[in-house]
Amino acid sequence: MYYAGVDVGAITAKAAILDDSRFVASAVMAAGYNRAAAAEQVLAQALQQAGLERMAVARLVATGYGRVQVPQADRTVTEITCHGRGAHWLCPDVRTVIDIGGQDSKGIAVNAAGRVVDFVMNDKCAAGTGRFLEIMAHALEEDLERFGELALRAARRVAISSTCTVFAESEIVTHIAAGVPKPEIIAGIHEAIAARIASMVARLAVQDVVMLTGGVARNVGLARMLEEKLGHTIVVLPEAQITGAIGAALFAREG
Ligand SMILES: Nc1ncnc2c1ncn2[C@@H]1O[C@H](COP(=O)(O)OP(=O)(O)OP(=O)(O)O)[C@@H](O)[C@H]1O
Ligand SMILES: [Mg+2]
Repeated sequence: MYYAGVDVGAITAKAAILDDSRFVASAVMAAGYNRAAAAEQVLAQALQQAGLERMAVARLVATGYGRVQVPQADRTVTEITCHGRGAHWLCPDVRTVIDIGGQDSKGIAVNAAGRVVDFVMNDKCAAGTGRFLEIMAHALEEDLERFGELALRAARRVAISSTCTVFAESEIVTHIAAGVPKPEIIAGIHEAIAARIASMVARLAVQDVVMLTGGVARNVGLARMLEEKLGHTIVVLPEAQITGAIGAALFAREG
């Protein structure tokens, strides 16, 4: 038997497939406007990777911002619960999960059983989400994929004082015009977002093991600066972006 989880977020759709004991396959793609179609397509991609037919999926659980727009799902579960569950399955010692997606960021405290015991969330403001990094990478004409690495190369960090994404973008344009080296500006951007997330997460009793999930976990610069601000080592697994989808697949397997 196979079980699937789809996590339809603000930016990407993710799918994960499990069998009765193991992880089988996954896929990630842009979510687009048609969430139901994105969910079906990303699931089809994961199934293709595993060499399975759609019929092979015994149960499908949807999570993420767009979960209610997935009519083919047998059940929906919140993203917070799925990230907690998925992170715990990947690393049973995890107690704090930080999920940074495209449109929101969350701090999740889980117990030894992987159950969510507390959480904090920012879904009101782009500063502190992946969107902020996307906008800044675009303003600096840099690839998002190497944005984090560039941040780590700087000897100094420029201070970004604006808390609003729109104002921060004009602040950056001013720094570029003033001839500040790009890596210093990029480091400042990462420091600003890391500080915002750290202060949000500090409202939880942050306990080791701390794990970073969501697409922004692929940004090495942010992970390092968040470690610095939190004073905790942060675990980043290759499954970071699909952790919510794995959680959803685990709920599908439980029935
Ligand atoms: N290769 C990469 N390098 C750096 N950052 C990346 C990379 N790929 C994605 N990201 C970041 O990940 C973000 C998307 O993360 P994710 O897929 O977790 O979002 P989502 O689940 O759709 O959003 P949300 O949870 O807010 O609804 C992008 O905004 C971008 O900042
Ligand atoms: Mg998400």
